[in-house]
Amino acid sequence: MSESIQNGDKQVKSLNIAVLPGDGIGPEIVEQALNVTKAVCEKFGHKLTYEFAIVGACAIDAVGEPYPKATHDLCMKSDAVLFGAIGDPKYDNNPAAKVRPEQGLLKMRKDLGLYANIRPVTTFPSLIHKSPLRAELIDGADFMCIRELTGGMYFGRPQGRAEDGNTAYDTCVYTREEVERILHLAYKYAGQRSKKVTIVDKANVLATSRLWRQIGQEIAPQYPDIETEFMFVDNAAMRIIQWPKSFDVMVTENLFGDILTDEASVITCSLGMLPSASVGIHTSVFEPIHGSYPQATGKNIANPLATILSAALMFEYAFGMMEEGALIRAAVTASMEAGIVTEDIADSAKAYKTTEVGEWIVNYISK
Ligand code: IPM
Ligand code: MN
Repeated sequence: MSESIQNGDKQVKSLNIAVLPGDGIGPEIVEQALNVTKAVCEKFGHKLTYEFAIVGACAIDAVGEPYPKATHDLCMKSDAVLFGAIGDPKYDNNPAAKVRPEQGLLKMRKDLGLYANIRPVTTFPSLIHKSPLRAELIDGADFMCIRELTGGMYFGRPQGRAEDGNTAYDTCVYTREEVERILHLAYKYAGQRSKKVTIVDKANVLATSRLWRQIGQEIAPQYPDIETEFMFVDNAAMRIIQWPKSFDVMVTENLFGDILTDEASVITCSLGMLPSASVGIHTSVFEPIHGSYPQATGKNIANPLATILSAALMFEYAFGMMEEGALIRAAVTASMEAGIVTEDIADSAKAYKTTEVGEWIVNYISK
């Protein structure tokens, strides 16, 4: 755990983080987020220590498994994990592969007990005109999607193929305890925001969703100052696009949350803009919601902002350092206003490299 040490009058905090760049563009974007983290620590006088570990396809190549024990041990003893991305086309194109990079990410989430994935969705004034959605629909949109992360179809068993190979099955399972803890978390965050919770399910079809809805109906009266809304996931998918400003905190099961947040990134304008925080029982993990983007790997063109914004969430959620997080956000906003952005969000013909964006932000923070 992070400790405070007295250094004269100034309180120096010691932050000890695990850095897991992963695959694809992961190493490039994490490098920028780590530089930003260093700059913030320098500015505020915090002592930063960090150690790297492997995860995903690179870990399969190196040691035969995507989330090695050494990586888990490092995560467990760290105060926070900064994570890049995992995945490799050689596995995507081979459905028969026995070991897959994604299993590493899922194992990490499960073993660290990260049952809640918090994905804030906001707009940036300088990007609004780039969204395929009309400005008046999205201007001012600001909600938080809380995705359940260690249950549902991602983890339910049995999962597999019938012997003839022509029938496959996944199982969706939720327990009362899993649903209760994430709903309480949603109400906690709604209490700090605009006091509205939207519980997204498919209770008209799925048994697990009916459990979610029943528990939601039981819990809602415990939070009388917070408005509760129940919504079917198909309707929510439409409302995210048509009326995103109607949401404050949206809470949903694992697979729905995965899909709805990629959709929600359209509001921000690029998948390269959305950060996330995974929290739960052990060390929290901070990672962009986008994947490993293999087409861009090694080209120095990937947008580092989602990972840099994940570092902002790390300061806020893992260390309770709000000023530090705010400075990172201000730097990101300033970089966009100055047009120092990568090609996915660039306006003019002039797009900047991943490293140039990172360096600009570091300079802004350090000045
Ligand atoms: C995400 C990703 C992962 C998920 C993949 C890479 C397993 O899409 O974090 O949203 O589906 O959870
Ligand atoms: Mn996803």
